[in-house]
Amino acid sequence: MSFAESFRDLVPVTKKFVYLNHAAVSPTPLPVLEAAQAYLREVASEGTIAVNRYEADDFKGLREKLANLLNVSWEEISFVPNTSYGVNVVAHGLDLGPGDNVVTDSLEFPAVPQPFYKLKKRGVEVRLVRPNLDSFEDDVLSAVDGRTRLVAISHVSFNTGIRVDYERVAREAHSMGAYVFLDVIQSAGAVKVDLKHVDFAAAGGYKWLMAPQGSGFLYVKKGLIEDPPFYGWRSSKYWLEFNAEKFEVDKGPRRFEIGTIDVAANLALAKSAEILAKHTEEVSSRVLELSGYTIRRLSEEGFEVVTPTEKRAGIVIFKVKDPQRVVKELQAKGIIASARGQGIRVSTHFYNTKDEIEKLISILRHSNG
Ligand SMILES: Cc1ncc(COP(=O)(O)O)c(C=O)c1O
Repeated sequence: MSFAESFRDLVPVTKKFVYLNHAAVSPTPLPVLEAAQAYLREVASEGTIAVNRYEADDFKGLREKLANLLNVSWEEISFVPNTSYGVNVVAHGLDLGPGDNVVTDSLEFPAVPQPFYKLKKRGVEVRLVRPNLDSFEDDVLSAVDGRTRLVAISHVSFNTGIRVDYERVAREAHSMGAYVFLDVIQSAGAVKVDLKHVDFAAAGGYKWLMAPQGSGFLYVKKGLIEDPPFYGWRSSKYWLEFNAEKFEVDKGPRRFEIGTIDVAANLALAKSAEILAKHTEEVSSRVLELSGYTIRRLSEEGFEVVTPTEKRAGIVIFKVKDPQRVVKELQAKGIIASARGQGIRVSTHFYNTKDEIEKLISILRHSNG
């Protein structure tokens, strides 16, 4: 039995639904759920004894598991409650001023561009490129100039499914003196992500990383934003002295965490990262195989697919006449997907099957016409 087949048994939603909605919220697999539950049970019976046990290494062990999956150092991984928090840390941590610009684009989920709108009040220009799918990288890069401080984009687009060549964007942006922020919520856990190439990244854990809402990470390359935009008791080198008068910014990843983190949710995230890191090749090739199969089958059935095959990850978007109605009909028949972009978004994780895609196709045949 392959890893994907055996893992499928550990995902309870597969017994009830054909779940094709990992780009929205992932169902929690049992080992990931158990990591959070074990902690909560121990806190229930031991209180601070359990809390102190888990916090003894300042979450170095958890950071290492994520760092390993993302090919960076544990010192570059901070726990944040969602992607948006991570974008804001970067937006307000870079000290941008009048005449500086940030390049982003209109295909982004609002979590990426909108934090920068606040900087307009300080004279920062936000360049919202309207890219074409087949020239995304060129279009974004053409807006970068000598005053660009940051390019902020997603690795995989939530509403078109395209997978961006971030290595190229980073290489060219860096050569013009700009940093790169990458939103990896639609890629981490599904396809290979190597954050060494970029300067900043963030993701909530609740999509392809299969962890609970409230878990998430921020990656800040070593040497950048050493002075965080917000201070809190956990940002301090002397945090365990509980002394209001004694403060010095900690050099480690705790500096961005400001206060108490969601320990249960991030234990689950670290568990998931540990599992996925052991099987990166299989996970990534299954995700691509299933999205490729979905594109091929939808095209054969006459649907117009928006996601380009050669630039796909795990998301497939295709057009139907009335996406909201079709999504409701699918749900009534036990198939869970979303209406996004120009149609329906199908997002299969590595433990989905081709049979499930065939079920989707057979229902679509009757509901779209
Ligand atoms: C690309 C992208 N970024 C961010 C988010 C969500 O942001 P947050 O984790 O802050 O809720 C989504 C949610 O669909 C998304 O698709």
